[in-house]
Formats: sequence, C-alpha cells, structure tokens
Amino acid sequence: MKTVFECQQCAATSPKWQGQCPNCLAWNSLDEVVVNKTNSKQQNVGYAGEVATLCDLDDIKVEALKRTPSGSKELDTVLGGGLVEGSVILIGGDPGIGKSTLLLQTMSELSQKDKSLYVSGEESMQQIALRAKRLSVKPKDLKLLAQTHIEAIEHLFNQLKPKFIVLDSIQTMYSDTLSAAPGSVSQVRQVTAQIVKLAKKTGTIVFIIGHVTKEGALAGPRVLEHMVDTVLYFEGQKDSRFRLIRAFKNRYGGANEIGVFAMTETGLKDVSNPSKLFLNHHEKNLPGSVIFATLEGTRPLLIEVQALVDEAHGNSRRITQGFDSGRLNLLLAVLNRHGDIPTHHLDIYINVVGGVKITEPGIDLAVLLAVISSLKNKSIPTELCIFGEVGLSGEVRPVHSGLERLIEAKKHGLKKALIPKGNCPKEKLEGLTIHPIKTIDELIQWVNDNL
Ligand code: TYD
Ligand code: MG
Repeated sequence: MKTVFECQQCAATSPKWQGQCPNCLAWNSLDEVVVNKTNSKQQNVGYAGEVATLCDLDDIKVEALKRTPSGSKELDTVLGGGLVEGSVILIGGDPGIGKSTLLLQTMSELSQKDKSLYVSGEESMQQIALRAKRLSVKPKDLKLLAQTHIEAIEHLFNQLKPKFIVLDSIQTMYSDTLSAAPGSVSQVRQVTAQIVKLAKKTGTIVFIIGHVTKEGALAGPRVLEHMVDTVLYFEGQKDSRFRLIRAFKNRYGGANEIGVFAMTETGLKDVSNPSKLFLNHHEKNLPGSVIFATLEGTRPLLIEVQALVDEAHGNSRRITQGFDSGRLNLLLAVLNRHGDIPTHHLDIYINVVGGVKITEPGIDLAVLLAVISSLKNKSIPTELCIFGEVGLSGEVRPVHSGLERLIEAKKHGLKKALIPKGNCPKEKLEGLTIHPIKTIDELIQWVNDNL
C-alpha cells in the first residue's frame, strides 16, 4: 500500500516526512495518508460507494425524510425533528461534559426500537455498565463492544446489522490502512470516511463522539465537519449544572438550533423552558444587570447580561464571557464617540449568564445598557427586556425575529421592552409597553429619564 505525507493545512503532498511543509511553510503539519490506487472499477464510484450515474433533476423522486425520535425532546429539536436514516452525527465537547452520558441514555431509548451497538474505545464494559446503572436506564438488548480497530468493528457490524451505532470516541479508533497513531488527523479522517460509507450504504444511524482541543476545535482541525451530516457541540461550563447542545451544521435541519439539558444525579434531563432557567431571579433590581431577548435557531430565549464597571489601576481591562471582546471594544468606542461616555479609564467585565455564547448582534444594546447601568450605579427594572444592534455611527438597527422575542418576553411576565424602532410590531402586544429607540443618544436619554 502506498502512502504519502499530506499537509493538514494546505493539503500539499510530499513523499517523505518533513518538519515543515514545503508548500505553505507550516511546521509539523505533515501527516501520513494512504494513496488510493484508482483502477477502472473505482473510477465510477459515486455517493456512498454506489455506481455514479448521470440523471435529470426532475426525474429524481423525493421521499419525505423519515425521522426517528431520539427519546429526548431537546435532542430532537437540535437535530431538526429527530434522527434521519443513514445520517452520521458528530457530537463534540470538552472531556467530562456529558457526551458518553447523553449517548448511553439515547442508545437505551433507541434500543427499544431496533438493534443498537455502543462501541467504546475509552472505557471498559464495567465502566459503561456502572454508568448505565447510575442512570437507571433500561436498555433492551443493547450490545456493547470495547474495540478501537475500525475493520474489526465493520466486521462485527456486518454480522449484527445494528440500526443505531455509537463510536466513543473517534480519537481512539484506528484503521489498518494507515500506520499513523490513533487520534492523528489522517486516522480520524480515514475512520470517519469508512463509517460514513457504511452508514450511507446500510441506512444505519451513526453517532460519532469527538473530543475538542483547548482551542475549542475538534481534534483533527475540522476535518470531520464536512464529512458528516450533522455536527453538534456541547456548550456551557462544566461547573454549571446546565448543558447546551448547539447544532453547528445540519444537513437535515437548521443550524444554530440549541437544546438545553440539566446534568443531574441520574443523567441529563431535558429543560423545556430555558428562559426561566437563564433568568437569575433577584430579590431586587441590581445595577449592571439586564434581560436580553435573543433567538437561538428558532427558539426565543431570555438571558441575563451583566456588566461590571470599575476604576482601572494601570491599564484598563476588558473581559467578557459568552460575548466577543472585540465587539465590546467597538461598542465602547461608539459609546464614547456618539454618547459622550468615555470608558478608557475603566475596567469593564461582561458576563452572559448560564454559559451561553451569544454571537448575534442583537445583544449590542443589552451590553451597552448593562455598562451604562453599572457605570451610573442605577438598577434596571427586572420587568424590562432589551435587544437591538448598534451601528458604528451610533444608530440602533433592527434585528430579525423581533416579534418572537417580544412574545417570549411577554410570556415570562415582562412588562417593558426597549427595542429598535424598526422592530416595533404593527399591532399592540397587550401588557407589554414598547419603547422604540433609533440612536445611542436616545438610549442614554431613556436612562436619564427613567432610572
Ligand atoms: P461523561 O458522559 O463521562 O463525559 P464525556 O463522555 O463527555 O467525557 O460525563 C461525566 C460527568 O458527568 C462526570 O463529571 C460525572 C457527571 N455525571 C453526573 O453528574 N450524573 C450522572 O448521572 C452521570 C452518569 C455523570
Ligand atoms: Mg466519554
């Protein structure tokens, strides 16, 4: 079998291993990969190993996707409504966040429906059985296998023909076709390619567990993300009880959809009303804390955003959690230039409560209001919610799905909303007073008038 060394950054190949890629000059980026010999038979291989044929788009019959419920409503939401036949789902997350727990629970549910196989390369059978006992799940004929050799797994697969299979984790698996160590980019890629082919051929639903590196990427620089159908990531902090699963990519549903779970003594439980959870209920109003109405995927959420502004000793610091610090600097510059509130001499800390990462610009107004509130030491009523994007000239821009956000706020008993003018609903929402704003100036004016 012929192998070459492939750069994991630029995909250039070289016959020998070298410390530096001769093409893109990246260091330590060469990895051994197998060169597939092409013969006449192989040249005609299409999707999932089938013979490639040319056809007319109109002639293709489209069948409705059959979805199997996973046993957890939250997981089904993230998946876009359930598990699709032949799909490969990658679940990534920090070690100890609950990947094995979630999948053991899910497989126990799925085993009631059809043959299921849990392959672990990380834990012994005893450890898995212990976890099952702790979770008090009642699987029906769930098969376990402690194996890391993908060809052996394929062999067993062909005998057992399971409908659902878990590989825990992809970093421990290896293929005979490569001499590279398990966990290396080429092994991870090879094993995934083999299992994806198997899933597509047989209609099996495959879950692949992947560890993430310190930088938050799946080991094997994102090589897996384009090979699988769905990529789910665990978000949130390990020390909090709550776990978020976000769909990063989904060929069978919306990306960015989130599912919320609570880690309990007996495993992960669905949290069906996350807004209630993210709102920290304070006895009284506190300065620097605002309620932000956001939309994650198709799901409106109310989340508390906190700011702490303090006098800087030496260089001022900007520290954020769950929010981009570059965006904070931008907003502070807008606040200085268009709102006449300088902050260069102040330390500013921002925290999005609950470990959620917000990447949508609708959070801008919430962050600014929290900063102003902390700076002036004036508290904001807990019955108020806010959202809106802020532009570089100090203008407040509308965001998408304004009405959904307002309805969520109303549902949770909020009484006031500070929102961009462009998001004002055509009809009145009973019980919710809306205060539209067009510029940062108007936000500051509102603070001066109301707090
Ligand atoms: P685990 O699923 O092993 O994590 P991963 O596979 O992502 O590495 O989760 C382990 C953590 O979850 C561990 O710190 C203990 C905790 N846990 C519970 O709190 N309750 C439970 O019922 C179980 C099984 C685990
Ligand atoms: Mg695990």
